Amino acid sequence: MKLIAIVGARPQFIKAAAVSRVLRATPGVQEMLVHTGQHYDENMSEVFFRELEIPEPDYNLGIGSGSHGAQTGRMLESIEEVLFKEKPDRVIVYGDTNSTLAGALAAVKLHIPVAHIEAGLRSFNQRMPEEVNRVLTDHSSDLLFAPTQVALENLLREGIAEERIHLVGDVMYDAALYYGEKARRESRVLERLELKPKSYVLVTIHRAENTDDSLRLRAIVEGLREVGKNVPVVFPVHPRTRKALERYRLLEVAEARLRLIDPVGYLDMVMLEQNARLIATDSGGVQKEAFFYRVPCVTLREETEWLELVDLGWNKLVSPIMPEGVVEGILNSLYAPRGIEENPYGDGNSGELIAKCLFNFQVDLSNT
Ligand code: UD1
Ligand code: UDP
Repeated sequence: MKLIAIVGARPQFIKAAAVSRVLRATPGVQEMLVHTGQHYDENMSEVFFRELEIPEPDYNLGIGSGSHGAQTGRMLESIEEVLFKEKPDRVIVYGDTNSTLAGALAAVKLHIPVAHIEAGLRSFNQRMPEEVNRVLTDHSSDLLFAPTQVALENLLREGIAEERIHLVGDVMYDAALYYGEKARRESRVLERLELKPKSYVLVTIHRAENTDDSLRLRAIVEGLREVGKNVPVVFPVHPRTRKALERYRLLEVAEARLRLIDPVGYLDMVMLEQNARLIATDSGGVQKEAFFYRVPCVTLREETEWLELVDLGWNKLVSPIMPEGVVEGILNSLYAPRGIEENPYGDGNSGELIAKCLFNFQVDLSNT
């Protein structure tokens, strides 16, 4: 059986690593990797292939950055060419990026069954590009791998047939367990940055709604600067965010009090997460990793796809509209009691469950 996995952005390399490791060990399965080139900086792409021991992509389409339509359109055309040539039995897509949508659309139109890993997430905020990508991808997919009960229920509510949905847990939890251990052995990031365990706040910001709105970005920077008076703030800066900080003349303001660093590889990131006193982020993946390592998290957004974490008390939503709100949210969470001990993300064997379903899935196009 020939599978093609489509990846393009940082979190997808991490998810694909967890699944690919299992698929490549499954007899009778040939997996090929197509990298759209959505992320291309060394520290946004290549470092993950090196550290996570993912094989080199079979194709790198080199699409790069662009507006949504231009980027997705170029991907669609190039992915279609690969699918024509390789004629895979299934296409695997991950998450909610433009690469995901392009992969799903290209495949479904060629009647190739699509498997969506991380299906069913919803923010119910249609202005997020990711929400549009997720909904369209889910409704183009034949196999939907839901990471949580909440995601499964979202899909059922939208009328997707139950037999297409598989609750398998979260592949990022597989990755966190596997690489978390490796990071403790190999990462030297704490020494390099001269950080003591549990002494700093770790921050990541990259969502369009925060980076492309000068008022929100300013509220985040000013709020974090205030927090930085009490506790060191370490902030690996996504390239999109660096550009926005420059555009809004906030870079120097931020650098004066915060520890801005370039994006780090996954092992260093996981090490920074495990040892943080608190994480403040707008990233989907980082919210969950905070929980996997039982670090309190503040999500600088109005809503989250990972509602379980809020319900269990590990994550607090803080709307980054005013600096005072950001400061209050973070300082309160620093001293809040721990969340409830419950794990809604499976047993760390999602990769195996997915591989089994992919292998057993019988193509029934009469159903589609
Ligand atoms: C994308 C995903 C988002 C995901 C994030 C993970 C979409 C619509 N968004 O957002 O869901 O959470 O990846 O990180 O697919 N850039 C560089 N170098 C790079 C990559 C990007 O400089 O290697 C800069 C470019 O200026 C680019 C901007 O970042 O225009 C945004 O990149 P893009 O891939 O369009 O979206 P992300 O914000 O990374
Ligand atoms: N990550 C990383 N280095 C960084 C920042 C994030 O390796 O400097 C990892 C992080 O540990 C998580 C993933 O990237 O596994 C999350 O990606 P991102 O926040 O870019 O996207 P999202 O999850 O929001 O789609």
